[in-house]
Amino acid sequence: MNTKLFQKDFICTPDWTVEDLNTLLEMAFRLKSEFATGQYHDHILRAKTLYMLFFEESTRTRNSFETGMTQLGGHAIYLEPKATQIGHGENAKDTGIVLSSYGHGISIRDCRTGIGNKYLYEMAKYADAPIINMQDDVDHPCQAMADLFTLMELFGRDLRKRKFVLSWTYAPKYVRPLSVPQSLIWLMPRFGMDVTLAYPEGYHLMPAVLDKARAFAAEAGTTITETHDMDEAFRDADFLYPKSWGPIMVTEDEPTVEAMAAKNTGWRVTQERMKLAKPHAVYMHCMPIDRGHEADGEVIDGPQSVIYKQAENRLHVQKALMSLIMGGRA
Ligand code: CP
Repeated sequence: MNTKLFQKDFICTPDWTVEDLNTLLEMAFRLKSEFATGQYHDHILRAKTLYMLFFEESTRTRNSFETGMTQLGGHAIYLEPKATQIGHGENAKDTGIVLSSYGHGISIRDCRTGIGNKYLYEMAKYADAPIINMQDDVDHPCQAMADLFTLMELFGRDLRKRKFVLSWTYAPKYVRPLSVPQSLIWLMPRFGMDVTLAYPEGYHLMPAVLDKARAFAAEAGTTITETHDMDEAFRDADFLYPKSWGPIMVTEDEPTVEAMAAKNTGWRVTQERMKLAKPHAVYMHCMPIDRGHEADGEVIDGPQSVIYKQAENRLHVQKALMSLIMGGRA
């Protein structure tokens, strides 16, 4: 257990060791169970402030961070570019130095392709306060940690040899970033799971991310298998994480994206497909879900679905994260 995480940035999970990540998970288990039994934690971040900068919309991330700060005794301030001088071009360095002279943490959602992740690391170079990634174009570490925490709650801490399926699904509405699938393929092999990645032609992840994931898998003695067959992926799976993402490595041109997606409407989770997995298999999704396209309602609302647990656990994992990096001492 590494408890010396005070002021450590949380931008991508590869920046943290498995020991660091386990410390975070253990803290989340403790805070969740204590809060459920009426023990309050409003001393941990008393009089501390988190700045939450959103370049894009959010339901879960914003509200779980803001609620978490309330429960830890601190305060969260919602910022968006157009309500700050970022909208007039103030850079990451100046914004980071100034905000960290007032408060104790800066969390950022910036999914702009080729920009977001760089923006977070640029601010981290100059800001004294720790930077938290609330999703960028590369990683969504708080989501992946909440997902891992959820699996540990349901199946125990030892997830070795479990088959984790990360599958693309059809959705017509908008181009979703690669950060959720990439966050999962980085994290799950480090915690013992064999990952199967399924997607149609044109929907591959960033090659550098996949290389790093393969290196993690080799180190952990786990596997990453790629397929273009959704049924093959689902067969004998323990954990199913089917979600849509854009063909960002190929194009972000909307008409082309729509035409590519339209060829793959069969990539959808049905009850029949769920039966290919093991009987205890769970259906996971980070939400929002494109109901009726990504998956049928009977799956989303069915007994194997754990989507609401995942969403709830964002709160507990992020409270643990903030306690360790904003409330602890070196
Ligand atoms: N899963 C997730 O990050 O949800 P929001 O986009 O609502 O924050």
